[in-house]
Amino acid sequence: MINVAVIGAKGYAGEELIKILLRHSGVKIISLSGRMDGKPKHISEMYSYLKGKLDIFCEDIDQKKIAENADIIFTALPHSVSMGIVSKFVLLNKKVIDLSADFRLKDAAVYEKWYGVKHTNPELLEKSVYGLCELYRKKIKKAKLLANPGCYPTSIILGCYPALKEKIIKKKGIIIDSKSGYSGGGREFVKNYKEPNCYAYQVGGIHRHIPEIEQELKCQIIFTPHVIPQERGMLSTIYLKLKKEISLADVIAVYKKYYENEPFIRIVETAMTKNVVNTNYCDIAINIDGRTNNLIITSAIDNLVKGAAGQAVQNMNIMFGIDEKEGLI
Ligand SMILES: NC(=O)c1ccc[n+]([C@@H]2O[C@H](COP(=O)([O-])OP(=O)(O)OC[C@H]3O[C@@H](n4cnc5c(N)ncnc54)[C@H](OP(=O)(O)O)[C@@H]3O)[C@@H](O)[C@H]2O)c1
Repeated sequence: MINVAVIGAKGYAGEELIKILLRHSGVKIISLSGRMDGKPKHISEMYSYLKGKLDIFCEDIDQKKIAENADIIFTALPHSVSMGIVSKFVLLNKKVIDLSADFRLKDAAVYEKWYGVKHTNPELLEKSVYGLCELYRKKIKKAKLLANPGCYPTSIILGCYPALKEKIIKKKGIIIDSKSGYSGGGREFVKNYKEPNCYAYQVGGIHRHIPEIEQELKCQIIFTPHVIPQERGMLSTIYLKLKKEISLADVIAVYKKYYENEPFIRIVETAMTKNVVNTNYCDIAINIDGRTNNLIITSAIDNLVKGAAGQAVQNMNIMFGIDEKEGLI
């Protein structure tokens, strides 16, 4: 049994981690923690549906105790809070999967520019492995510090990767519109979100996921995120300029070549959030606009699963050499 700790258990991503880890036959949840202000709570008081399923208290974060007992630690905390906590576990030689953005960007100056805070542990950036399972499986196997990708970047990078890698599209002028369920904003955002409402936000190349996507795709993008009136699920529509005419069948063949052995990627006719919510799947639909010679990719994930907790567990499975699909649906 792998002994697992979840830090940030009160948050959306932390809750999702607990749900998935409970389905996993090879792990034991030995610690749940968060900002409890000295008042530990039984997990079933926080999430009543866990009554009779998990007998553990959510406590304040005690790093020494967690490090003594856990084989792997998931941190599901806001960016900038995570880095200090994670770095102590790394010093203690523990395996960590961090769901925040703190270890995703390889250049501390880029992090500081986009996140507006100083990186206190820049020396760890080159050691961290970017945990997009489909691209970095070999590195993930050996990772000690794993930076779990953001939700928008997961849907977008997976949607673009084969076309870019096979050089069938131009690197310039990539346009992406992404729509996210409101849980993408975390608990505080959800408290203030008045349903139903749909709008674009952080328009004008200012969303913090842009440098992460550009780091991985190695090209500039135009990215506009939107909030949609559903709790979870994310759909990215990606416009890619084809270098020359190519048939839809040939593009589909390219995508299948990259993804046919991937347990959580499906090439589908229509990517829709309904089909991926509560699963770890990324559904990718491929279309060509022959009039303007654009490849249009739509990519759907559950922001809390493949976009966060599910991908984190998939990464843990790879790191421990167990079936990558364990615990995941
Ligand atoms: N939501 C998503 O779809 C998603 C997807 C991918 C990645 N992520 C990333 O996952 C992380 C968690 O996101 P989330 O959506 O779960 O956020 P959330 O619902 O806002 O939860 C964040 C948790 O962190 C706790 N926290 C805040 N400041 C803290 C501090 N100084 N010390 C200890 N705990 C602190 C909060 O505690 P309180 O309850 O006391 O406020 C809250 O429980 C973030 O880095 C986010 O970017 C989220």
